[in-house]
Amino acid sequence: MKRNPFFFGEVVTGENFTDRVNEIKRLTAELRGGHNIFLISPRRYGKTSLIINVLEHLNKEGLFTFYIDLYKVASLRELLEAYAKGVARSCTTRVERFSEFIKDVFPRLRPKIIIGSDGVPSIEVDIHLKDRELLDSLEEVFDVPEKIAKNRKRNFVVVFDEFQEILNLDGERIEKMMRACFQHHHNVAYLFAGSKRHLIYSMVSEPNRAFYKLGDIMNLQKIEPAEMMMFLKKQFSKGPIELTENILDYVLEISENVPYNVQYLCHHLWNWCLEAKNIEKEDVMKVVNNIIAEQSVNYIALWDGLSLHQRLFLKAISKFQNKPIFSKNFIVENDLGTSGSIQKSITLLKKKNIIDVDVKEIRFNDVFFKEWIKKKML
Ligand SMILES: Nc1ncnc2c1ncn2[C@@H]1O[C@H](COP(=O)(O)OP(=O)(O)O)[C@@H](O)[C@H]1O
Ligand SMILES: [Mg+2]
Repeated sequence: MKRNPFFFGEVVTGENFTDRVNEIKRLTAELRGGHNIFLISPRRYGKTSLIINVLEHLNKEGLFTFYIDLYKVASLRELLEAYAKGVARSCTTRVERFSEFIKDVFPRLRPKIIIGSDGVPSIEVDIHLKDRELLDSLEEVFDVPEKIAKNRKRNFVVVFDEFQEILNLDGERIEKMMRACFQHHHNVAYLFAGSKRHLIYSMVSEPNRAFYKLGDIMNLQKIEPAEMMMFLKKQFSKGPIELTENILDYVLEISENVPYNVQYLCHHLWNWCLEAKNIEKEDVMKVVNNIIAEQSVNYIALWDGLSLHQRLFLKAISKFQNKPIFSKNFIVENDLGTSGSIQKSITLLKKKNIIDVDVKEIRFNDVFFKEWIKKKML
């Protein structure tokens, strides 16, 4: 049996990664030139995949690159360890050099080097370090890429993914400290990526905040539908089944052309194709229903955790097609009460990661949850 060519929930590269030609061009040019960038989009649009592809390019050109995902970092100590380890890894190739490097470059950390069962080294810093000391050490560690870049005459690119999470670590103090360090780094370019648009915007565009004007903002859009369509055709052609344009149109419509959703739906459609022969629109509907059925335990739990007003609101927006959401009609028709209560529901639903609010629209993060509501709750 042919291997399913649709991947979701992980970074995609190579032939599983499509398009983004202009974005790659712009990002590599800016970062190569030492400019900082804030890359923003809702979750699942493909930021991390784009970043990893860009870093591959830059790495091949001979730049040092280091990537850190702040979702995985739960304390200052973890940040310190992950940063030191990551920077060391990106500059040393041999395991033996790793410990020497760490001891040379981070003398104050008194680090313990640990070699995992897979032979990969990592470091642990003294558990008794106080908050103040941790911050001082972090400052020192943040300066290392600049020092290395100068020494070795090779620029560094550092990526903070899910950057807004820094606010959970130590709020203002760490923000200020990072800026104080980074603004003096002329041989390091920073890419800050994040999915909580409002948090990042206020970090970058309010004059009293530490990251004010530290870099340009780039909003990552969806992939052009025509490009996505070509990609889907190419991937499907690896199997025995050909799909008509109409069906692919429908796939993009249901998945709202969000890259993750598209790949998720096509992954399941591929498995279904192997049983069916001629793929019709009904097959897509069937696959969507299967997905909904599979997820229904999760969706029920999610629904249980919502207030009545939040449920009403979700029902209303899952019904609406291009209707202005805050119009009087919309509010009255759907019995949504005051605009104050709507705002409150929106804020809480955003917090729960159920919806995302763009400048123009409100959308479900999980389009299948929307389909579930339409099917079961309307
Ligand atoms: N350029 C792309 N080509 C094809 N699929 C993509 C692309 N970018 C993202 N995807 C799909 O979207 C999923 C989520 O991508 P990811 O990079 O993790 O997004 P984000 O970091 O914005 O949440 C991937 O697992 C993949 O299925
Ligand atoms: Mg990501």
